[in-house]
Amino acid sequence: MADTTLMDKLVSLCKRRGFIFQSSEIYGGLGSVWDYGPLGVELKRNVKDRWWNAMVHARDDIEGLDAAILMHPKVWEASGHVAGFTDPLIDCRHCKNRFRADDPRIKGTPGQPDAQCPVCGTRGSLTEPRLFNLMFKTFMGPVEESAAVIYLRPETAQGIYVNYLNVLQGSRQRVPFGIAQIGKAFRNEITPGNFIFRTREFEQMEMQFFVKPGTDAEWFEQWREIRMAWHHSLGLTPAKLRWHQHAGNELAHYARAAYDIEYEFPFGWNEIEGIHNRGDFDLGRHQEYSGKKLEYFDQAANERYLPNVVETSAGADRVTLTILADAYREETVEGETRVVLGFHPALAPIKAAVLPLVKKDGMPELATEVYHGLRRDFPCFYDDSGAIGRRYRRMDEAGTPFCVTIDGETTAERTVTVRHRDSMQQDRVALDQLAPFIRDRIRAANAA
Ligand code: GAP
Repeated sequence: MADTTLMDKLVSLCKRRGFIFQSSEIYGGLGSVWDYGPLGVELKRNVKDRWWNAMVHARDDIEGLDAAILMHPKVWEASGHVAGFTDPLIDCRHCKNRFRADDPRIKGTPGQPDAQCPVCGTRGSLTEPRLFNLMFKTFMGPVEESAAVIYLRPETAQGIYVNYLNVLQGSRQRVPFGIAQIGKAFRNEITPGNFIFRTREFEQMEMQFFVKPGTDAEWFEQWREIRMAWHHSLGLTPAKLRWHQHAGNELAHYARAAYDIEYEFPFGWNEIEGIHNRGDFDLGRHQEYSGKKLEYFDQAANERYLPNVVETSAGADRVTLTILADAYREETVEGETRVVLGFHPALAPIKAAVLPLVKKDGMPELATEVYHGLRRDFPCFYDDSGAIGRRYRRMDEAGTPFCVTIDGETTAERTVTVRHRDSMQQDRVALDQLAPFIRDRIRAANAA
């Protein structure tokens, strides 16, 4: 059952602690567009860095790419997006609201007198379904005419296909090999929502793996395994991750086979990543539309072919939402509610907070020194305002795994207390061992 209260609490915490804000809020907001605040930008960056490390740095067979958002308009004809990236939509002539044709709230047959608008309740005001393209259009150059129309990319994948030969030549890779990219994508979604789950501007982390035809099914299985293991490595609750296989009628126009990795959000099971066997659809179409040969020549086997592609496509915002939803918990501690974001330490935006117990006896000065030392190794936060318990709670809400407290013993003994976010237990640690103490615990969580 959907837990809307939990989502409301999460949205409110994200705003309060500076993770995520509604875009253009002072003007009433812009529908389904969100801005990442100081903690949110760090969290999402940690997600993207982790993906980039796993997909590019840790492998010899994948290269990175950063293609432009704007591409030649023919790219989107070749990719099938101009003709096929559409949703059937229904308008209410009375209240001017717009709905997807499969909106379960619609009663009756749209276009007929019996159909009833789910918002204003008027009968007979719904139009028949009409196809609506989800790509955002704009104009290149000074003249706003149809010849100047270009699109904001609805997926990053196409930037990889049109560059695949450039990368192949420049990097001396051989098939099988992959190209990875992280970047913005835009879709004029009709039913966006659930916070940053479905937005109109979002970031994708996509990798296209080019393989010899006939080996695609095998690589597809390998990539499914690798990608599921990556989501587990983020510390997500295993029981909240599952596979969804696309049935024939669900498959995108380019896909031979597809599986989604789904997460059980407070609003139900939903896709966070797609693994697609795209066959030779994309390279074949770009070869046809550009008139340029995109075949690969395998010197060892002395054969030429158009590679097949296995794609892994995750949303950086969706994975960030997954991490937030999975990390959120409320506990009762000494009769009070403690809200905690129990992030995996490697993902936490702030790794350690440095807190002088009181604002006297040289503690703030020493704490500032410790803070400057630690921040060479980790993103840290200094806080000397309010009671120590309140400061701990603020850090719990920010998901900070370690709070370092400078107290009366610190000056005399050169030791601090390190309070652990999850257990709330405290260790006494020598000042010169503080950075390795924290680093070792982050490493241990990574290895677990
Ligand atoms: N290149 C293939 C592709 O784009 P997709 O299933 O349409 O496939 C892949 O999208 C991933 O991109 C999704 O699993 C999701 O994580 C993310 N995504 C897609 N549409 C999104 C949206 N409107 N808002 C946020 N993330 C989105």
